[in-house]
Amino acid sequence: MLIELPNQTLNTSEETANLAVRVGAQLRIGDTLLLQGDIGTGKSFFARALIQSLQDHPEDVPSPTFTLVQTYTTNVGEVWHADLYRLNDPSEAEELGLTEAFSDTICLIEWPDRMANLSPPDAIILSFTTLANDDTRQISFSGGAQALRSRILKALL
Ligand SMILES: Nc1ncnc2c1ncn2[C@@H]1O[C@H](COP(=O)(O)OP(=O)(O)OP(=O)(O)O)[C@@H](O)[C@H]1O
Ligand SMILES: [Mg+2]
Repeated sequence: MLIELPNQTLNTSEETANLAVRVGAQLRIGDTLLLQGDIGTGKSFFARALIQSLQDHPEDVPSPTFTLVQTYTTNVGEVWHADLYRLNDPSEAEELGLTEAFSDTICLIEWPDRMANLSPPDAIILSFTTLANDDTRQISFSGGAQALRSRILKALL
């Protein structure tokens, strides 16, 4: 049985940022979070808060919409932030070096469906949705290795 990770309802962007900080504190090299959900649901917002919380001097974290990948040096090692929306073919994920980065860095990947079955089996999927109120988001968790799920659970308690 997979460890149950309860859905999170975030009523404000501050609440989403706080969750991102708590999740970030649990991550280690080799972990991948797949951030899925429609445009504007807060995937980049979540990634930005997470990355900046791992830096003593928080850098700008622009959306990787056009660069596809942005890399960051943090207190826990290298973090890759990718947005695969513009990937034309899953094989391009390999060309970007992503498949190696999965084991060597912490990866936060938006639009992971674009790389099809190249995403690592241990990764946890965070699904973002916008609820009725414009500023309310829900994040649900699926898949992932048990060890990573148990660390993420600590961030949700
Ligand atoms: N509760 C909330 N959590 C996260 N973001 C929120 C929330 N309420 C409002 N927002 C706003 O929603 C927007 C989310 O934009 P963001 O760029 O993170 O979306 P995205 O999911 O990365 O979209 P894309 O698929 O285009 O990359 C931001 O402007 C953010 O301020
Ligand atoms: Mg984005």
